[in-house]
Amino acid sequence: MFDAIQASASFIKEKTHASPKIGIVLGSGLSGILDIITIHNEIDYRDIPGFSTSTVEGHSGKLISGTLHGKDVVVMSGRQHYYEGYTLQEITFPIRVMRSLGVETLFLSNAAGGMNPNFKIGDIMIINDHINLFPEHPLRGKNDDRIGPRFPDMSEPYNHALIKLAMQSASAINIQVQTGVYIGLQGPTFETPAEYKWLRTIGGDAVGMSTVPECIVAVHCGMKVFATSIITDLGLIGHVEKISHDEVLAAANAAAPKLASLVSAIISRI
Ligand code: HPA
Repeated sequence: MFDAIQASASFIKEKTHASPKIGIVLGSGLSGILDIITIHNEIDYRDIPGFSTSTVEGHSGKLISGTLHGKDVVVMSGRQHYYEGYTLQEITFPIRVMRSLGVETLFLSNAAGGMNPNFKIGDIMIINDHINLFPEHPLRGKNDDRIGPRFPDMSEPYNHALIKLAMQSASAINIQVQTGVYIGLQGPTFETPAEYKWLRTIGGDAVGMSTVPECIVAVHCGMKVFATSIITDLGLIGHVEKISHDEVLAAANAAAPKLASLVSAIISRI
């Protein structure tokens, strides 16, 4: 694994000549940030050693290098999901490559179902903690101490200083944000009414099919993580409406400019 990460990072460095300290993973339809990044280079995942290629509509697969507020950034446009059949190690491989490229701060975004009755469709939720309900763990197996520790501390999975900065940035640019706990499940089914009720009862504010494995691996290899969910649908106790992937994408796209402004404002202040 270590050698594969190095090989992948060397390949990218050769193509981009950049040393980004900031990495961004774009979730479903959240490509708005790309409109404000000065793009220098795009590499198809297919061409990068060790990267797997996405199969889901709405998730293109490109690693994009550029600058935002004069800072080098590397953006994963498109991510792999466990429900597609990849292992959690495959899904999180690019996160480790980002670390090897020099990334210290990782921005993750996703579309999620809201369970907190105070949430509305289109809200941005800053993730302040998560519950991992994936059926396997990305760090399962022999640990390589060159990548990270065997038993990583998870007392602050989402960096508190970044959350504080995000709250300040949001209020400076007049964007309302929610905060809450994200529960990561394997999907691909959306939740049943009984599952939403249970997930809310155990402490979740939003639920989705990504982000948790990436956060775990990022913390393992020593990155600071900041993550947001766009609430694209609601699963409230006693009131669960039908949803489709198209509706999720449409709601995510509608809120994308707001999220792009927020991430931009945070990065300008880092
Ligand atoms: N569950 C419910 N609603 C969602 C999800 C999910 O995983 N992702 C986006 N909206």
